[in-house]
Amino acid sequence: MTTYKAENFPALQNDLVLRASRGEKIERAPVWIMRQAGRYLPEFHEIRKDHSFFEVCRTPELACQLTLQPIDRYGKLLDASIIFSDILVIPQAMGLEVLMVPGKGPVFPAPLETPADFSRLTENVDVEKELGYVYQAITLTRHRLEGRVPLYGFIGAPWTLMAYMIEGGGSKTLHKAKGWLWKYPKESHALLQRITDIAIEFLVGQVKAGAQMLQVFESWGGELSPDAFKEFSLPYIRQISNKVKGRLTSEGLDLVPMTIFAKGSWYALEDLSESNYEVVSLDWTIDPAYARKMTNDKVALQGNMDPTVLYGGEDAIRTIATKMVHAFGKDSKHIVNLGHGILPTVDPEALKVYLETVQKVSAEIRK
Ligand code: CP3
Repeated sequence: MTTYKAENFPALQNDLVLRASRGEKIERAPVWIMRQAGRYLPEFHEIRKDHSFFEVCRTPELACQLTLQPIDRYGKLLDASIIFSDILVIPQAMGLEVLMVPGKGPVFPAPLETPADFSRLTENVDVEKELGYVYQAITLTRHRLEGRVPLYGFIGAPWTLMAYMIEGGGSKTLHKAKGWLWKYPKESHALLQRITDIAIEFLVGQVKAGAQMLQVFESWGGELSPDAFKEFSLPYIRQISNKVKGRLTSEGLDLVPMTIFAKGSWYALEDLSESNYEVVSLDWTIDPAYARKMTNDKVALQGNMDPTVLYGGEDAIRTIATKMVHAFGKDSKHIVNLGHGILPTVDPEALKVYLETVQKVSAEIRK
């Protein structure tokens, strides 16, 4: 097997996402989809049937193959790729076991119950040793992409990861994790800081391995009140962008644009636009004009069609996607996505209609 080095990468042929993120001129809005390498693709199941989810994540060759599947299938209809991995690899690196249970999602057999359980977490996590497989997958994928589109690296934001580590999986109320915030605020901050330190190291490592954009997923932002968000989420989100950029600069590396997706946190748009991220990603509950007003044109916006529209048939997809592109406007810095990940039972042809529509309409309005 050839081992690839994080150097001499093939020249990038499509830099629309990078230009849109930096507010440079674009001839049309670029488009990519959260969870674009996923269960709605039959070729995904072809690989997954023989390998467990985290086995795929830990095997660079397989993670690379899955990352490339949507790029191969949709060709020029996609303007970016995102490395196949999961946000829960950080809790694993910290010493917690995470299983992906079919039909149920992620499960932690032994979640954190009280701060006394910090004794079960690894002190001084060696990020390269624990998560080097993600770096290898990124480097391999950069070579195999052959410069077709840029590659995103990503992490889960500290609050979302803390919530998983305490809830032990998905939850309707998040009362255990939120209970910690009120009962153990000091220890909650200590945990959030431990996750933040690893997240920074991990993102810098992903850039060194070849990631050309970074996205931070605060998937459970919307479970927090505006005050709680300001105390338990925002400071860590800001530390991550500031310190990642500081580290890249001090090591003489090029900066890469960063995106923050705090799902449900419409109330924090203004703060997020002042957090040293180039892109703020929007869920579908946010009106693009409102987002533009709250962010004062300081950042590029990403999103945001409701993913369930992909179940509405071709006419509905075309109508609603067209309206969305118009709502973001022709001069605005816009990266098209969905308002959250694509759902596993979507017809891949429905996604194709969406991609074709947004590319066509966003080019037309800029002519
Ligand atoms: O294509 C991509 O976007 C890249 C890969 C990616 C995955 N997960 C693959 C995946 C990314 C960026 C993630 C992020 C992730 N993982 C988030 C943040 C985004 C979001 O959805 O808010 C979260 C919360 C997770 C945690 C997670 N991983 C959950 C809740 C689940 C189960 C989802 C479900 O509906 O059952 C996963 C599993 C997962 N991650 C799958 C994929 C393709 C499916 C698992 C399988 O193959 O069985």
